[in-house]
Amino acid sequence: MKLIAVALIAAVAFAAPVASAQQTTKQANPAAEETPDFLHLSGIMAQQQMRHIKLWFAGAAGNWPLADEIDGLKEGFDDVAKLLGDDIAQQHVGDAMAELEKSVDAKDRDNFVVAFDKLSVGCNACHHTLDHAFIVIQRPALLPYSNQNFSPQK
Ligand code: HEC
Repeated sequence: MKLIAVALIAAVAFAAPVASAQQTTKQANPAAEETPDFLHLSGIMAQQQMRHIKLWFAGAAGNWPLADEIDGLKEGFDDVAKLLGDDIAQQHVGDAMAELEKSVDAKDRDNFVVAFDKLSVGCNACHHTLDHAFIVIQRPALLPYSNQNFSPQK
């Protein structure tokens, strides 16, 4: 019991200066807490990667309501546009996204496959343009989400 009390006092005594040091840093540099842009971008991209996978398996299964995953991809690219300033995303993936949307609306699997591959080409073209040619996107081979059934439901 005594030991715990001592430990508690020690913890409080040490925590206080740390907290106030953090406070000082924040006051000195208010931007310190903001996430740098490149971290945002890689976070968005990790989500785009997940959406790209899900979109493929939804479309391949003919689960068209699920293929509306495309909305997430679109929002992701909107965020990319905000970060990178101009329409660089539109330039690289705009056409493919429009074609994908059309194919999903039309429930057209053949066009979906063509548009999906075009999207992946666009992802890579942008990676190439922005010095990340080593990040290569392709048609996913395996569905990593084994806890979700992608079959169309009646
Ligand atoms: C506007 C250009 C652009 C487009 C379009 C684009 N990317 Fe990226 N992507 C980047 C850049 C730049 C990075 C490097 C980000 C970083 O880590 O700084 C990146 C990184 C990535 C990464 C690595 C993320 C990480 O850090 O783990 C993945 C995965 C990725 N992109 C997937 C995709 C997919 C999938 C698409 C298409 C559906 C796509 N990207 C389209 C520019 C783009």
